[in-house]
Amino acid sequence: MSARTRRVTAADKPDILEISRLTWEGHDYLPLVLDDWLNGEDSKMYGVRVGEHVIAVANLRVIENGKTGWMEGLRVHPDHRRKGYADLLTQKLIEAGKQLHLQRLRYTTGIDNEASVRLAEKHGFTRLCEVGVLFAPRPRKAPKMKAHVSIREAEAAEVYALLQRKSNIIPHGVLVHDWKALDLSLEALQTIGKDSKFHISLKDDEISSLSFAYPRRRPDLMWTFTIYADGLEGTLSQFAYNLILSERNNCTVIMGTYDAKYEALFQKSKWIPKNRWITRLLLLERKMQ
Ligand SMILES: CC(C)(COP(=O)(O)OP(=O)(O)OC[C@H]1O[C@@H](n2cnc3c(N)ncnc32)[C@H](O)[C@@H]1OP(=O)(O)O)[C@@H](O)C(=O)NCCC(=O)NCCS
Repeated sequence: MSARTRRVTAADKPDILEISRLTWEGHDYLPLVLDDWLNGEDSKMYGVRVGEHVIAVANLRVIENGKTGWMEGLRVHPDHRRKGYADLLTQKLIEAGKQLHLQRLRYTTGIDNEASVRLAEKHGFTRLCEVGVLFAPRPRKAPKMKAHVSIREAEAAEVYALLQRKSNIIPHGVLVHDWKALDLSLEALQTIGKDSKFHISLKDDEISSLSFAYPRRRPDLMWTFTIYADGLEGTLSQFAYNLILSERNNCTVIMGTYDAKYEALFQKSKWIPKNRWITRLLLLERKMQ
């Protein structure tokens, strides 16, 4: 049966939701964003049709003032995997990116997602950076914070001003937020600030740690946070602080992103339940010009 690649529309929703239902044991976030992707002016969602049904989809979202094409939501129906459909869609998104005169395409994937990593290699993407990721049930009891650690809320503009003076706590100048990545800028922080709150600590008036976090629906609440710090103490303090916030926000699951050099610390942490899942997220980029 021949396969055709084309833009998907609201009429394809049942097929797309069926693919999503069969992905990651139903924990796929796609149903929560599908209407935005189908209707958003910045999104171009493509699908592969075989016979009567759409059996694969992927979205290209234009971000960072038209500079970057963010590739997301690549899904192939389990009955149609390993037949080259993800390959076909990746090629389609690259062509769309060229037509839109984007400077680069980017996406993130788990380091253990072999197909996704292979697609990057095949289509000329390079690895920009790697960050640590932890998924776990929320601990029954949040850790106690040491009295000397002071973390407070801040607005995007203040965080930006502080990072202008000391940006080296953000490796590669890339802010990773909920498996997405943006170059450090005031606009990026404001975008992140639409759903997340910023928490900072200062040392001698300079920023020594930062986290941003929000309770994400999936559909149960997942405390989703990213930590940046100039050392172990800041990382640990922000981690403990976020565990406290996850409890206050009644989240059942936590997902944390942090500098991969602290991975061992998260592996060993006594604060989180044993059935944790620790992996790494890769940020991949393909230059277009
Ligand atoms: C990842 C996914 C999109 C791949 O779709 P697919 O149509 O099966 O992939 P393709 O057939 O186009 O294969 C692309 C490449 O990956 C390889 N590949 C595909 N599945 C693989 C697997 N499970 N393990 C190892 N390699 C795999 C293929 O061999 C091919 O490489 P090759 O050309 O060198 O042989 C699909 O498995 C899926 O929907 N997974 C769940 C959602 C997901 O992980 N999405 C991507 C990250 S957000």
